[in-house]
Amino acid sequence: MNAFVDTLQGLRSHPGKIGIIGAGAMGSGIAQVAAAAGNQVVLVDAQPEALERSEHALAKVMARQVEKGRMTADESAALQGRIHRTTEMADCAPCALVIEAIVERLEVKQQVFAEVEKAVGDSAALATNTSSLAVTAIASALQRPERLIGLHFFNPAPLMPLVEVIPALQTAPGLADAGVALMAAWGKSPALAKDTPGFIVNRVARPFYGEALRMFEEGIADMATIDEAMRRVGFRMGPFELMDFIGNDVNYAVTASVFEAMYFDPRYRPSLVQKRHAEAGWLGRKAGRGYYDYAEGASRPAPTEDGALLGRIADRILAMLINEAYDAVFMHICSEADVETAMTRGVNYPKGLIAWSRERGLSKVVADLDALAARYGEDRYRCSPLLRSAANDQA
Ligand code: NAI
Repeated sequence: MNAFVDTLQGLRSHPGKIGIIGAGAMGSGIAQVAAAAGNQVVLVDAQPEALERSEHALAKVMARQVEKGRMTADESAALQGRIHRTTEMADCAPCALVIEAIVERLEVKQQVFAEVEKAVGDSAALATNTSSLAVTAIASALQRPERLIGLHFFNPAPLMPLVEVIPALQTAPGLADAGVALMAAWGKSPALAKDTPGFIVNRVARPFYGEALRMFEEGIADMATIDEAMRRVGFRMGPFELMDFIGNDVNYAVTASVFEAMYFDPRYRPSLVQKRHAEAGWLGRKAGRGYYDYAEGASRPAPTEDGALLGRIADRILAMLINEAYDAVFMHICSEADVETAMTRGVNYPKGLIAWSRERGLSKVVADLDALAARYGEDRYRCSPLLRSAANDQA
């Protein structure tokens, strides 16, 4: 077996040294997770200011944990003491695993991995936290591409349990499974995903936004009503509130990148309404204005109280989400269990989409999709073959 597979397996029972490249929001969060699991962490950033910001942010988070009685002052000090910050990549030399979390640009990531490979020993395993690039393309620039996997954490990494584990085409057998086991040992909920656009969450969640925008564009309902419909079926935030929270620029960019990478499959088509909001600078909460106004004292428009309309909205978005979940399983992107883990542990869905489909009745979901397909005649509404056969089996 490859030495780096052994190394990753070994980290499960014996904490070791973990290198993290990039001390931004994600790298800092992952460093906290690794240190909390007892590992020594070497946190590298090209910018000394980023390292300082990261140190202060962690100190603040830890102080709050101690205040709330979630850890003792000694534990907090020990955790912080396990993170060593540096601008020198060479300090990663003794690391058993190095996780990269720098800017989302292929050439820059490839360049950084070339440096990482020079710094570490032969038995080190490597990982990237990319959310939209192909792990396979990043691996292709490595001397030894077989030792790279994707470990896709969610923001904020210490709070969100999901980690998508993604083997590249070149990844050595056993390495992804060792990654899954290690993430579980770190207290995370891992889900194994094929190296395809958006992996699991960023693919399966697209209709939550896309179908909401489409219904708004058609004038079926206003934004507040669509949000209310989804809150009533258990989502913490409706689609428009959530897009405002994520940022319309960021959310639009993810949709556009999945759409392009999926060869313009109409299921993932971005929305002009969202594009215009981004162009206007109405990015959401961070800009003080998005789909809603976030100024001091601004009031929210009230949703309609038409129960039948609210039900139709939720039925349509849920049918599209469920279809996407079945199709991910159909296309072998992930297992049924992992699509459930991904949506409940990565984006807080109130239920797994497969479980939800059974609760609603598979034939109803298929009928909803077939009615949309008949009405619009668009490929966007095609029912996944797996969903249709599951409905036939149940009938
Ligand atoms: P960020 O912009 O907050 O931090 C990136 C850090 O990397 C910066 O501190 C920068 O100085 C440093 N850096 C850039 N080039 C470097 C180099 N050559 N050597 C050393 N350090 C370098 O970015 P963020 O949001 O933390 O994202 C990082 C990665 O994580 C990206 O690949 C992103 O797609 C991925 N990701 C981001 C999520 C998010 O919600 N922000 C969620 C999941 C993944």
